[in-house]
Amino acid sequence: MRPRITVVGSINMDLVFRTPRMPATGETLHGHDFHQIPGGKGANQAVAAARLGADVTFIAAIGDDGFGEFSRNCLQAEKINLDHLTTVKGVATGVAGILVTDSGDNSIVLAAGANASLSPSQIDAASQTISTAQVLICQLETPLETVTRAIQIAHAQGIKVILNPAPARALSDDLLKQVGYLIVNETEAAQLSGIAVTDQESAQQASQKLLQRGAGCVLLTMGGNGALITEQAGSQFIPAIQVEVVDTTAAGDTFVGAFAVGLASGMSILQASTEAQYAAALTVTKLGAQTSIPQLHEVRDFMASRSTFLKSN
Ligand code: RIB
Repeated sequence: MRPRITVVGSINMDLVFRTPRMPATGETLHGHDFHQIPGGKGANQAVAAARLGADVTFIAAIGDDGFGEFSRNCLQAEKINLDHLTTVKGVATGVAGILVTDSGDNSIVLAAGANASLSPSQIDAASQTISTAQVLICQLETPLETVTRAIQIAHAQGIKVILNPAPARALSDDLLKQVGYLIVNETEAAQLSGIAVTDQESAQQASQKLLQRGAGCVLLTMGGNGALITEQAGSQFIPAIQVEVVDTTAAGDTFVGAFAVGLASGMSILQASTEAQYAAALTVTKLGAQTSIPQLHEVRDFMASRSTFLKSN
């Protein structure tokens, strides 16, 4: 049986400029080139989970424009269930303007468009789907009240809840108590814990604070510095997988999607996180969001080439 995962989240068309460096305020800079690539944190996480072997249902919204149609076609091609994908009339599809530098770093500006229209009533209409999945994944590019409603339904039914609180914003302890797995980067961990994350020690302190606030398990991803898993029982550090960095866009999303598949397949948190690290590492070796998310066989081959200690299903 393939694991069943529901994703609630955003769809964006990514307008990507590759540039030698970030422009300064007021500066006009020649970039290398421009690409239109399907993205959005929700869509990326749904695509990652689908490519890595899950049956995915995606609850989301697009505008009635060309970007929306293109995004829908891309998701359809991934065999993602789109029964709860809504087209909002007279509204633009979400767009992300992304600058990617030669060192692979990125800066992103969002125009939410239809993502801002995703409503709690659409979640209610999909409650059966949420309740029969093994895992729910949410992020924060859609309204918080909508994300909250999805988490409430899943939590009440004993479904595993993953929240990737990106972009970072304040969240209540009440919401965090319903989150089994909080997947954060350094910025999000700092925003939610009030502790700046600069090294492993501060990462542990911030993670402990997030556990105290109610999260069941905290996975703090730190890019090239590895990841830290913290539960009540203690912390475990996973080293980063070293690769040549082309573009870090969607590495975090791939980690989330891959971790969800591992969790839904019955893996331990450590094993699911380790596989997610390998999948995310592959993502940074290519340009773009959904153009860089690996297929299952690519992750398996990569793991076999780097390590032999993890099982292959
Ligand atoms: O996490 C990467 C994603 O963030 C991009 O695809 C962009 O659309 C923004 O949502």
